[in-house]
Amino acid sequence: MPERLQLQVSFEFSASHRLALPGCSDAENHALFGKCSNANGHGHNYRLDVTVATNPSVPNTVATLEAVVDREVMKRLDHKHLNLDCPEFADLNPSVEHIALVCRNLLQAPLATAGLELISVTVWETAKTCATVQAAG
Ligand code: NI
Repeated sequence: MPERLQLQVSFEFSASHRLALPGCSDAENHALFGKCSNANGHGHNYRLDVTVATNPSVPNTVATLEAVVDREVMKRLDHKHLNLDCPEFADLNPSVEHIALVCRNLLQAPLATAGLELISVTVWETAKTCATVQAAG
């Protein structure tokens, strides 16, 4: 049996967002999210850590992972306004928790198709704050 291990690759993308619950008024969203609900949004440099299960005999795991993440996440989210440009957040508050969930959902099946088993996705919104989502069972 080959050794099993976890491999993690980090990615960066820049995006803007506005925290707001669909259906809430501007005043209600301001009460909930403060300046994070300012009308025209604000930006973050996000870090995305993707962890997959693999074994050392599989070639090109990093390149395969990079290609899938570029196609499925970077092309959708990098240099976008998440609320306005990304259908994934049309009815979803683009909090770091939801961004992590969206990334997990965008990545899991394409990674499996490419032969990689997703373990987890972590999205860092600041140096202090991140959200981690495990692969769906
Ligand atoms: Ni923010």
